[in-house]
Amino acid sequence: MRIHVVDHPLVAHKLTTLRDRRTDSATFRRLADELVTLLAYEATRDVRTEQVDIDTPVTTTTGVKLSYPRPLVVPILRAGVGMLDGMIRLLPSAEVGFIGMVRDEETLTASTYANRLPADLSGRQVYVVDPMLATGGTLVAAIRELIGRGADDVTAVVLLAAPEGVETMERELAGAPVTVVAAAVDERLNENGYIVPGLGDAGDRLYG
Ligand code: PRP
Repeated sequence: MRIHVVDHPLVAHKLTTLRDRRTDSATFRRLADELVTLLAYEATRDVRTEQVDIDTPVTTTTGVKLSYPRPLVVPILRAGVGMLDGMIRLLPSAEVGFIGMVRDEETLTASTYANRLPADLSGRQVYVVDPMLATGGTLVAAIRELIGRGADDVTAVVLLAAPEGVETMERELAGAPVTVVAAAVDERLNENGYIVPGLGDAGDRLYG
């Protein structure tokens, strides 16, 4: 597994406003959407393409188009839905699958309550989107499910990660074809499993 933290002043600026407790829900949604588009630009650096011949008004040349099968984008319900539009703005031809997962507030264990994924993901590139990588339990379970269905390249796009969650993913997904793209890796997790300094509960701030 590899992690890529996107170092860009616009990313840092938007993330700072997302962190601010005074940022209201409408602004939070808009900024999360804008931020995802910037992260998606980095996350799709290795999207698979193939060469095509085209005619310009002047001459014939070669270019590229996205390869078939199309990439799959998977938002993890609920908070990941707030990142879906930003992601498919850059990948409009992508197929979309859904996983619903919730973390128990006491045990911090993630469980799956919905699964609407293509049965066969053999040879597919998948982009999983979820704002928070906290303990890592949610993303490890979601990515295992995707790899179990045959996905051979998985990129998780997150707004914020905790070092503890990154470590867990590195341990649990060692050797797996997985990349994490994040706007920042914060200091730590607190005793309630919240990222510090973080931005609070992304699901609540988007939809609460
Ligand atoms: C949050 C967040 C991640 C998960 C991260 O979701 O959106 O999915 O927790 O935690 P982890 O890395 O410790 O597993 P939550 O369970 O609050 O559900 P929601 O998206 O419905 O708000």
